Amino acid sequence: MERELSFSMSSVAGSIAKFASLALPFLFFLLFSSLIPSAEAYDALDPNGNITIKWDVMQWTPDGYVAVVTMFNYQQYRHIQAPGWTLGWTWQKKEVIWSMVGAQTTDQGDCSRFKGGNLPHCCRKDPIIVDLLPGTPYNQQIANCCKGGVINSWVQDPANAASSFQVSVGSSGTTNKTVRVPKNFTLKAPGPGYTCGIGKIVKPTKFVTQDGRRTTQALMTWNVTCTYSQFLAQKTPTCCVSLSSFYNDTIVNCPTCTCGCQNNATQPGSCVDPDSPYLASAVNAVDKNSYTPLVQCTSHMCPIRVHWHVKLNYKDYWRVKIAITNFNYRMNYTQWNLVIQHPNFDNITTIFSYNYKSLTPYGGINDTAMLWGVKFYNDFLMQAGPYGNVQSELLFRKDPTTFTFHQGWAFPRRIYFNGDNCVMPSPDSYPWLPNTATQLKSTLLISLFAALTWLLINA
Ligand SMILES: *[C@@H]1O[C@H](CO)[C@@H](O)[C@H](O)[C@H]1NC(C)=O
Ligand SMILES: *[C@@H]1O[C@H](CO)[C@@H](O)[C@H](O)[C@H]1NC(C)=O
Ligand SMILES: *[C@@H]1O[C@H](CO)[C@@H](O)[C@H](O)[C@H]1NC(C)=O
Ligand SMILES: *[C@@H]1O[C@H](CO)[C@@H](O)[C@H](O)[C@H]1NC(C)=O
Ligand SMILES: *[C@@H]1O[C@H](CO)[C@@H](O)[C@H](O)[C@H]1NC(C)=O
Ligand SMILES: *[C@@H]1O[C@H](CO)[C@@H](O)[C@H](O)[C@H]1NC(C)=O
Ligand SMILES: *[C@@H]1O[C@H](CO)[C@@H](O)[C@H](O)[C@H]1NC(C)=O
Ligand SMILES: *[C@@H]1O[C@H](CO)[C@@H](O)[C@H](O)[C@H]1NC(C)=O
Ligand SMILES: *[C@@H]1O[C@H](CO)[C@@H](O)[C@H](O)[C@H]1NC(C)=O
Repeated sequence: MERELSFSMSSVAGSIAKFASLALPFLFFLLFSSLIPSAEAYDALDPNGNITIKWDVMQWTPDGYVAVVTMFNYQQYRHIQAPGWTLGWTWQKKEVIWSMVGAQTTDQGDCSRFKGGNLPHCCRKDPIIVDLLPGTPYNQQIANCCKGGVINSWVQDPANAASSFQVSVGSSGTTNKTVRVPKNFTLKAPGPGYTCGIGKIVKPTKFVTQDGRRTTQALMTWNVTCTYSQFLAQKTPTCCVSLSSFYNDTIVNCPTCTCGCQNNATQPGSCVDPDSPYLASAVNAVDKNSYTPLVQCTSHMCPIRVHWHVKLNYKDYWRVKIAITNFNYRMNYTQWNLVIQHPNFDNITTIFSYNYKSLTPYGGINDTAMLWGVKFYNDFLMQAGPYGNVQSELLFRKDPTTFTFHQGWAFPRRIYFNGDNCVMPSPDSYPWLPNTATQLKSTLLISLFAALTWLLINA
């Protein structure tokens, strides 16, 4: 395959006319997609994505119940990374939390109405729950707990796409008629972005024993569904795309000021220079729990840049190199992922050093791929600096009915990093194919026309 490396101008020239018609719909797509705000609440590439929180009441107690609460991340590519989720709700009555296993509340609140030695774990009307950390003693664990609030995405690691804890509730009522479903669920992951619906009582969950010989069921179950909106999560983009190709020297950088502007006058210290002697102190200055990115000074000021380079053209294949660069000094991205939309993904042949799964949000159309790092090799995208990048190459088989290097066809239509839309350069800036071919063609046409005219005149 490597030996087929022969970029032939004439073959490209031949395909121009053939694909002019195909390029038109693509231009419409670009026009259309640029009209859709990037801040859409509805994610077109994962229309059913949600986090479902399920409460299973497992037993009644003298003054309440014991429930197992499980959060299922039904999102294909959006995960919750360190420092993890924070879950909150508002009790409808005077409920208290006597105890928890596999999680804890961050604040006990005012338990002064309880006399005697046995105080509840939390008396707040709006308890705030966080996961326990890895390494929690076994007697304080339950299945799927204690991962520091990290929940992987459904596609990337289904075995780690859920998180559970057990809660023992008092002063709540002790029958399915008297228990009130808590209200006003809030999920931070770790920042804003999720909106949760109301708790709906559903059919009690059935549990099947491991040997499959016995089924038990919850006494009462309710579900809460939370959905993500990038617009709620952050007001500015966090990621941008740059483009280049072997057939044109132009490197199309991320649009200037995509994620912010370098403005010393109004925001001194909004970014740091990698050569600055103050780099180390700037990085360590604010406490590490601050999620505001501290970015390297660039024209785009984005924490993440994805670069798509059209690298090689073979007879039957073409090759792309993808590099992700982290410009954020305050964030190591663990288990990062990319979602890319490009019409040639239906004929992807090889992906070097990344995991891959095709996503088909629109049923039949197979043009979207999810890529993520190989465990222990490149699933960790280190903070800004010499190791703050990961890269891979993709090999596509050309489908002669659609393939072209014209009109930016070889560039991606859409890229997400960790589920957030990356801002693309404007299509009119894409590197062009040198237009010698078109000129040649029109020269030929002109001489043909001239010859015909000459024939007609002289006939
Ligand atoms: C949440 O996601 C699951 C799995 O994709 C889906 O079955 C369910 O209908 C979704 N719930 C809502 C309310 O969208
Ligand atoms: C409550 O339990 C009774 C049986 O004990 C059942 O018939 C009823 O459907 C349950 N109601 C709810 C809301 O789960
Ligand atoms: C819901 O919770 C949020 C945050 O905890 C709080 O600001 C808001 O007032 C609550 N709303 C209701 C109706 O309790
Ligand atoms: C409630 O959530 C669980 C877990 O996601 C799911 O299996 C069940 O189908 C849901 N029930 C309803 C009625 O949506
Ligand atoms: C901002 O300040 C840095 C040094 O403090 C300087 O190198 C850079 O050129 C300045 N940028 C602008 C836009 O003034
Ligand atoms: C990122 O990981 C490296 C190596 O494990 C560590 O030295 C560094 O402190 C981490 N940075 C952040 C911001 O967590
Ligand atoms: C999409 O295309 C790729 C590459 O040809 C193939 O491996 C994958 O199975 C296809 N997926 C679907 C859902 O058709
Ligand atoms: C590309 O994929 C499509 C859909 O899977 C298939 O119909 C077509 O034959 C493939 N083309 C090549 C050159 O493999
Ligand atoms: C490369 O692409 C740019 C558009 O980004 C275009 O202005 C330039 O003419 C192209 N170079 C060649 C050699 O065609």
